Amino acid sequence: MSETAKVCENVFGAPLAELVGVSADAVQFSPLAPGAQALEDVAPGSLGSLAMLAPAGAIERRYALALALRALAPDAQLTVLAPKDKGGARLAKELSEFGCAFTEEARRHHRICRAHGPAEPSAIAAAIEAGAPRFVEAVGLWSQPGVFSWNRVDPGSALLLAHLPRFAGRGADFGCGLGALGKAALAAPQVATLAFVDADRRAVAMAARNVVDPRAQFLWADARRTDLAGLDFIVSNPPFHEAGVEDRQLGQSFIQSAARALRKGGALWLVANRHLPYEAVLQAAFGRTETVASEGGYKIFRAQA
Ligand SMILES: C[S@@+](CC[C@H](N)C(=O)[O-])C[C@H]1O[C@@H](n2cnc3c(N)ncnc32)[C@H](O)[C@@H]1O
Repeated sequence: MSETAKVCENVFGAPLAELVGVSADAVQFSPLAPGAQALEDVAPGSLGSLAMLAPAGAIERRYALALALRALAPDAQLTVLAPKDKGGARLAKELSEFGCAFTEEARRHHRICRAHGPAEPSAIAAAIEAGAPRFVEAVGLWSQPGVFSWNRVDPGSALLLAHLPRFAGRGADFGCGLGALGKAALAAPQVATLAFVDADRRAVAMAARNVVDPRAQFLWADARRTDLAGLDFIVSNPPFHEAGVEDRQLGQSFIQSAARALRKGGALWLVANRHLPYEAVLQAAFGRTETVASEGGYKIFRAQA
């Protein structure tokens, strides 16, 4: 760490410890960390410092930078970093467009910028507006840049939607995103309750806008550690990337968690990219598993607890 670097008392995401100093009890602001604070809610000019692992998506990144610059006190430092090929190479240009002073260094394939306000208020307002929630016609849902497949229908989800049966009883949508799968399940009046679960605060907020139904419950939580139990059915298009890197264990943990949350005889309906190795985990966690469809690079599984 350079001598000018400070230990930050606020953090967004999980920047590498060797690149930026973050206090052990730092306040977390990432929307991907259930229970974290929201930069949107911070009083302008009130934070003393912030270390940010910037998101890879350009609109989402500029939105997060704008919120951070608005939240920081005039003399406070924003330490923002990202891998060079995941937005890091664009940080300097973006900070210039916000009109703030900054230094830049390159280490461990990252670009690390240390910035100070004041930033240009009109540039801040424009980036916040560009990254805000909006109704997306192409998806037919409320959405926000940064949420999974925010401006296009995911083909895997579309395939699962085409095969869903009419459910009954108590259910859940694990990794609900904008809420399309759970919303379709709620079309059956026999469904009594449905829990929309996602680790992304923005996804849960959008799902709550998209599904106005007294039977729906919205949980900003890690689906691998939910205490839901005795469910009749679960629908899921599980994630298989963590911080932009393929992680097969994530989807496998969703399957094991779903098996724990279902009652005996309850069913998991799951879509997966064809290359993902879920069969053995499904077999081990469930009594009966069948492949309901396999097309367009995706598989639909039905597994019975
Ligand atoms: C492949 S997307 C599916 C989204 C939505 N169900 C759909 O079909 O469009 C996976 C979702 O899982 C969420 N997610 C990732 N890790 C999670 C976790 N540990 N617990 C809950 N949700 C998670 C992501 O935020 C994302 O919304």
